[in-house]
Amino acid sequence: MNRPARPRIRFDDQLWIVTTDDGSETLFDEQVGDTFHSESGAAAESRSVFLINSGVASRLQSGRATRVLEIGFGTGLNFLLTADLAFQHHASLEYWGCDTRIISPELLRRLDYERWIAHPELKDWLVHWLQSFAMMKTGETRGCDFGSVQFHVHRGDVRDWSPPYGFDAIYFDAFSPRACPELWTTEVFQMLFGTVLPGGTLVTYCCRRAVQDALRAVGFELNKIPGPVGGKREVLVARKPMLLDV
Ligand SMILES: C[S@@+](CC[C@H](N)C(=O)[O-])C[C@H]1O[C@@H](n2cnc3c(N)ncnc32)[C@H](O)[C@@H]1O
Repeated sequence: MNRPARPRIRFDDQLWIVTTDDGSETLFDEQVGDTFHSESGAAAESRSVFLINSGVASRLQSGRATRVLEIGFGTGLNFLLTADLAFQHHASLEYWGCDTRIISPELLRRLDYERWIAHPELKDWLVHWLQSFAMMKTGETRGCDFGSVQFHVHRGDVRDWSPPYGFDAIYFDAFSPRACPELWTTEVFQMLFGTVLPGGTLVTYCCRRAVQDALRAVGFELNKIPGPVGGKREVLVARKPMLLDV
């Protein structure tokens, strides 16, 4: 049986704001033909697939300093939920996001993300910084901080970037392999493998065989685990081994 269409409002000539099944909002990009999160629940997907599966939630809940890299920064929802948890547990967080386009402050203001975080001032702070990030050129990286949260954003194609070394977790949140096949490659995964600490994770919502093969080929160990309720049946956790055979 087909689900009824989710409520959506046009934002501009490319983007729609869509209300997902858990009540949280995401975007649909008409040119790409893909949504920014699962329509079964944007906030639920973000918490389950990225924060929890990566081990970032448990690190922050126990007050451990944590470094996260996100490929496909998009709306900033994954960042806001992660920063909110860091705030709640007084943990230090260093977060790096990469995207070819930086969301405008007007669009982030329209999204209802303050409803999903305990510290809504984080959204106001991000909206404030996005006003200057709008001037960023392709290839530029900028940073700012808010209490224990340090945030850096790189504007550009991840294939042309060398992020710093030393992440505890990578949120790999590109558009689907159908919409964006150029990012789900051994070349991109090899570069990301080099940036994650031994024992660190790369998490993603896509469980396709070709994606699993590419992640394994560069050295990750894989676990398929159940996806969020109503969403994907299985999602991926890729871990960099603690000790590499030499
Ligand atoms: C699924 S959305 C990300 C959703 C995001 N994590 C969030 O919480 O809203 C995919 C993002 O990848 C970005 N993207 C597309 N091609 C890219 C590339 N070559 N390098 C970096 N980012 C890219 C898109 O602009 C889009 O914002």
